[in-house]
Amino acid sequence: METRTAIKWTKKNLLGIEDLEAAEISAILEQAHSFKSVLERTIPKVPPLRGKTIVMLFCEPSTRTRASFELAAKRLSADTMNFATSTSSFLKGETLKDTARNIEAMKVDMIVIRHGCSGAPHFLSNCVNASVINAGDGMHEHPTQALLDVYTIKEKLGRIKELKVSIIGDIAHSRVARSNILALKKLGAEVTICGPKTLIPKDAEKMGVKVTYEISEALKDADAINILRIQRERQNEALLPSLREYASRFGITTEILRKYARKEVLIMHPGPINRGIEISQDVADSEFSVILDQVTNGVAVRMATLFLISMVK
Ligand code: CP
Repeated sequence: METRTAIKWTKKNLLGIEDLEAAEISAILEQAHSFKSVLERTIPKVPPLRGKTIVMLFCEPSTRTRASFELAAKRLSADTMNFATSTSSFLKGETLKDTARNIEAMKVDMIVIRHGCSGAPHFLSNCVNASVINAGDGMHEHPTQALLDVYTIKEKLGRIKELKVSIIGDIAHSRVARSNILALKKLGAEVTICGPKTLIPKDAEKMGVKVTYEISEALKDADAINILRIQRERQNEALLPSLREYASRFGITTEILRKYARKEVLIMHPGPINRGIEISQDVADSEFSVILDQVTNGVAVRMATLFLISMVK
């Protein structure tokens, strides 16, 4: 990791990577680096968020993000409250705005929200005084996933600038892809996206990425590859002949890597993994896979996010 850059953090909310300057991304990564050492202590807990209350408002399923935010908040000594739509008055027709304002009336400081609608965190940030953190909104952004991804690349390869990173899979429906592209480009990486034509956004080049429909091109010279799953839940029409066909053309296997990739290419995946479709069993568990390191780093990155936001009045 490089030396610290001193910046004054001023963001009350984290709604997307789009809103962040490169220096702000670097500030989160540096703060995360110091929290990672806290997590390696015998007692992995520090007091800066003592007295703060953080609500996890998850209106879509999540394993990693929800658990990671909750653990991050607890490691910083905050109180946490979990809120799942399946057991709430959403089911009785209460709106997101009313739900959030009722939660806020219980004197909470931050709301971490995941929602199926793009823009829900932005809407919420205009309804409440509490800080709002986007934990994934529709097909729009998943900022902390991108932050933990760039943290992991930097941790493993020492830098981001001028690295070649390929994002492979269902780019069109992926908030992870969008946030990753924004973060990687802001930090100076060269980004290639690859997938079937139907799963690549039409104006993708406007984001400053190279587009290819050939897996050999995406793998050639890549320092890291980030493999995405097919997001069937966000597709309204049949965009692929079959998952089997997708796996045979775009699935990352040992054989494909041997044929086209650099030997030590970093293998990344945000999860959840569909083994045997976008990634084979042996690649997911290979020595160059950093998939579980991404999960570990997610806690430190989310601690950094909560901590920096808590400093803003
Ligand atoms: N990567 C990610 O967002 O995983 P979850 O859906 O399990 O939170």
